[in-house]
Amino acid sequence: MTKPTLLLTRTFPADVEARAARDYDARLASGDTGWANDSAEIARRAVGAAGIMCAAGDRMNAETIAALPEGVKIIATFSVGTDHIDLKAAAERGILVSNTPDVLSVATAEIAMLLILMAARRAGETERVVRAGAWTGWTPTQFMGVTLEGKRLGILGMGRIGRTLATMARGFGMEIHYRNRSQLPLNQEQGAQFHAEDEAFLAVCDVLSMHIPGGEATLRWLNAARIAMLPQGAIVVNTGRGTTVDDEALVAALTDGHLRAAGLDVYAGEPNIFPGYLRLENVALLPHLGSATIETRDAMGFRALDNLDAVLLNGEEPPHRVL
Ligand code: DGY
Repeated sequence: MTKPTLLLTRTFPADVEARAARDYDARLASGDTGWANDSAEIARRAVGAAGIMCAAGDRMNAETIAALPEGVKIIATFSVGTDHIDLKAAAERGILVSNTPDVLSVATAEIAMLLILMAARRAGETERVVRAGAWTGWTPTQFMGVTLEGKRLGILGMGRIGRTLATMARGFGMEIHYRNRSQLPLNQEQGAQFHAEDEAFLAVCDVLSMHIPGGEATLRWLNAARIAMLPQGAIVVNTGRGTTVDDEALVAALTDGHLRAAGLDVYAGEPNIFPGYLRLENVALLPHLGSATIETRDAMGFRALDNLDAVLLNGEEPPHRVL
């Protein structure tokens, strides 16, 4: 039987590419060369393909989707986020879209916890001091941060990642609050307190951790007005999507002292970073590391392939269909 053709827009983990090459006529990307930012190039390379395995940040917008050849049946993204794909355009063309939920919850929650610790304990700033050879030795008042024990952690978006973070943060003695579209059942809340309104929620966030998707509906959700609702000295962490933060407002609040610190893993317009962050010592900046563990990236790739296999090899619904 002829294998269906699969276009891969990036270099994926070796075992993932090996499975793709075993089961498909796989067009592997040679290196992350950047052509996935080019609609015409994606469409050109997709000629003859039945499926596309893409990744967060790829240009799968309306222009690309309109240009895709007839034969493309499914776009399987190697991500849980789908803000890089114009879902409406895909639906109009009858192209299925799938993602990779669940498998990255622990890895992403670990990065959120890491950023909370980095921000609270000034880890980025002080590591830079040590590396610069500028540390003059221990003193009783040097580099003091804040302890997490007894502090209130507000989780915006209590999905799988948010709930995993809650479990981790309980181990640090934090009190958990959350804001979500709807209240969770008791067995998922595990004592966390639900807030139905932004103001009441933000007012109790000694630490705010953001886990909401990108897109129009959440654009610059954390704006100056909402930042003002946070307690004096609060910490903000974002491992969801950078577009959900008003960068100017966050930089202003970190500069005037209303906020103590921030930790960011995601940025609007990645890989560009809003320049104001680079000048601040009280911001920990990571390069979109959320899911970047060997185990998780393999699992994401296998999940993306499971979706492709369902549609292209077995004629079934993809298990993780977005729409
Ligand atoms: C996702 O899966 O959406 C992540 O942002 C990629 O790590």
